[in-house]
Amino acid sequence: MKIDEIISYDKQHYVNVFGDRIPIAFEKGEGCILYDTENREYLDFISGISVCNLGHSHPKFVAALKDQIEKLIHTSSLFYIENQTLLAKKLCEISPFDKVFFCNSGAEANEAAIKLVRNYFYKKGSNRYKIITLINSFHGRTLATTAATGQKKYQKPFEPMPEGFLNVEADIEKIRSAIDDKTAAIMIELVQAEGGIKVLEKKFVNEIYKLCKENGILLIIDEVQTGIGRCGSLFCFEQYEVIPDIITLAKGLGNGIPIGAMLCKKEVASFEPGEHGSTFGGNFLATRAALEVLKIIEEENIIDNVKNMGSYLKQKLLELKELFKSIVDVRGLGLLIGVEFSFPVKDMVKELALSGLLTSSCGGGNVVRFAPPLIVQKEHIDKAIEIFKEVVKRYDNMGRA
Ligand SMILES: Cc1ncc(COP(=O)(O)O)c(C=O)c1O
Repeated sequence: MKIDEIISYDKQHYVNVFGDRIPIAFEKGEGCILYDTENREYLDFISGISVCNLGHSHPKFVAALKDQIEKLIHTSSLFYIENQTLLAKKLCEISPFDKVFFCNSGAEANEAAIKLVRNYFYKKGSNRYKIITLINSFHGRTLATTAATGQKKYQKPFEPMPEGFLNVEADIEKIRSAIDDKTAAIMIELVQAEGGIKVLEKKFVNEIYKLCKENGILLIIDEVQTGIGRCGSLFCFEQYEVIPDIITLAKGLGNGIPIGAMLCKKEVASFEPGEHGSTFGGNFLATRAALEVLKIIEEENIIDNVKNMGSYLKQKLLELKELFKSIVDVRGLGLLIGVEFSFPVKDMVKELALSGLLTSSCGGGNVVRFAPPLIVQKEHIDKAIEIFKEVVKRYDNMGRA
């Protein structure tokens, strides 16, 4: 189909939650490159929003999926599923957690974490149920995770929000005073990604951890975007001095095949049969995909590449900050980097895409997010910086600064 035809059908039939999308439709991909319906090339520096971490059409990943599709895709949780067991075992071996629950998305993984927290205290005969989250956070689009998301714009059209969530400023004293005898957990992202690539400071996270320990409340770390190597370690919390009770994963875990996971310590794994579940969660295909992702990350030393390419990309972007007055800040961890501008970047992100570089905006609209596949190489970064520089130059000169 031609792009105009796709746009016209989309406008007619798709619920308009995404507004005017960038007028490009992709047809195939290879590594860090995507090709549109006219066979034009684009450098993918957004990876389907931190999802396609191994790049597109990774040969080993494709072979594993083909093999699995030919054997079995889904059987239901009425029966044991070997891949699911193997993935749960693997995730527990490479983390400090003991138990895993699989679902299909980040929001569902957080929903499972929220339900687990309530269930855990209910089973203890305690009436703790409230969860403290941070203002500017993003935890998903279900009603509970929207209430957890500390951004009014996502909550307003759906009020009243479910009870039991307190969105508090990222200030340790404010968090301390928000805790009461009903508080069950604190839930945070270590890098607020949708919130504008804001990296939480180690000291602040340590203090949150201390507050949790002192008050007998649980710490949930939402690693939906930061996990699976994106920030330069398999899990981002490894770069902090805390061990959370629960973490959630999705995005990069399946490299594009939908899967979410909630990992927890055995002491808090209180769900009993029938209390939670998912039809598709952890099916043969999704868990095979995630097993292969973890295998490739190890085999190809991908975390080292994230560290090296992450600092290279950040360095190049910092050099541009010296050149352009409209660049306010460059920040991030590993290959999750934000460039903050002094103006809204929506038009610029579109122009970047039409010039062959895919990024996205975040953080209230002033931040360009760079989240390339974790296999990215120097030559991709150099090309991306060339395109970025040319486009930023035009905006800087237009006096948008
Ligand atoms: C930190 C974080 N949590 C949760 C979500 C929701 O994930 P999903 O869109 O897969 O439901 C996102 C999505 O961007 C996210 O970045």
